[in-house]
Amino acid sequence: MLTIQRPAIDPRLDLFAEIERLKRELNAVILAHYYQDPDIQDVADYIGDSLGLSRQAAATDARVIVFAGVHFMAETAKILNPTKQVLLPDLAAGCSLSDNCPSDRFAEFLRAYPGHIVISYINCSAAVKALSDIICTSANAVAIVNQIPKDQPIVFAPDRNLGRYVMAQSGREMVLWPGTCIVHETFSERKLIALKVRHPDAEVIAHPECEPAVLRHADFVGSTTALLKYAGTSDRRAFIVVTEAGILHQMQKAHPDKLFIPAPPEADCACNECPFMRLNTLEKLYLCMRDRTPEVTLDEATRLRALTPIERMLAMSPK
Ligand code: 13P
Ligand code: SF4
Repeated sequence: MLTIQRPAIDPRLDLFAEIERLKRELNAVILAHYYQDPDIQDVADYIGDSLGLSRQAAATDARVIVFAGVHFMAETAKILNPTKQVLLPDLAAGCSLSDNCPSDRFAEFLRAYPGHIVISYINCSAAVKALSDIICTSANAVAIVNQIPKDQPIVFAPDRNLGRYVMAQSGREMVLWPGTCIVHETFSERKLIALKVRHPDAEVIAHPECEPAVLRHADFVGSTTALLKYAGTSDRRAFIVVTEAGILHQMQKAHPDKLFIPAPPEADCACNECPFMRLNTLEKLYLCMRDRTPEVTLDEATRLRALTPIERMLAMSPK
């Protein structure tokens, strides 16, 4: 296999200043998810959850979108912006939910549920989006399901934990694809209870990708943006945060007077950091802007079929 050698980064370079210079030179916008490394969050033009990032991608007039997140997010930006160049610092930045729901197996799964509306979590490939009727994110999943007529059966994919949470909130039965997030499924109910005992005044705030056994201890459940906002509006001084640890950077920055305690995974590991998100580094971000590669591309037929359910989501999302 041919490997392309990239010129090494000059160690004297100030990467923060270089990235700012390249932003102007390329007419680029950097969109970053909260799970990115703090250095990346600090150079981003916009930091948000998957819904906010999609909205920004749909609205930007920059010529180049540098997506500091995982592949399905950059791909969504490309679906919305076919004429713009979309760069991703590391093309291998996948997602366990997306990777474990291949479109051929999903198409076969759907054949068993004729007449069902297909609602897919945005954490899926363009090919799976193309098989879906409506896309949702953790921020709008309940609101979207609530807009579906009561007698309409629903298939929900690929996150069964988000699906179960939506079923509990909406009172709707749904057929679930059995996918999970490898980060959120590692949080330990046992260790969370022990942490609550040590911090009795702390509120537990959790992402709906967590297992039901963990979510039942949460005082508030929401997307990453919703968790950040809640930490600001609550009058509590301490929070146990049950999601990927990258969000703590913005929480601590916005509320330096409050205490944010990352929830522990079951094993003694750094499994509360997403190994896909963390493939992106400041160095790779700089290189992808300098060399304008790797780039996310898509065939036009798939893009067009994936666009419709994303546009439906944007139209159905509460403002
Ligand atoms: P949100 O961005 O909707 O909070 O979801 C988190 C996530 O896991 C993204 O992959
Ligand atoms: Fe996917 Fe989970 Fe990583 Fe989000 S945190 S990108 S859902 S593996």
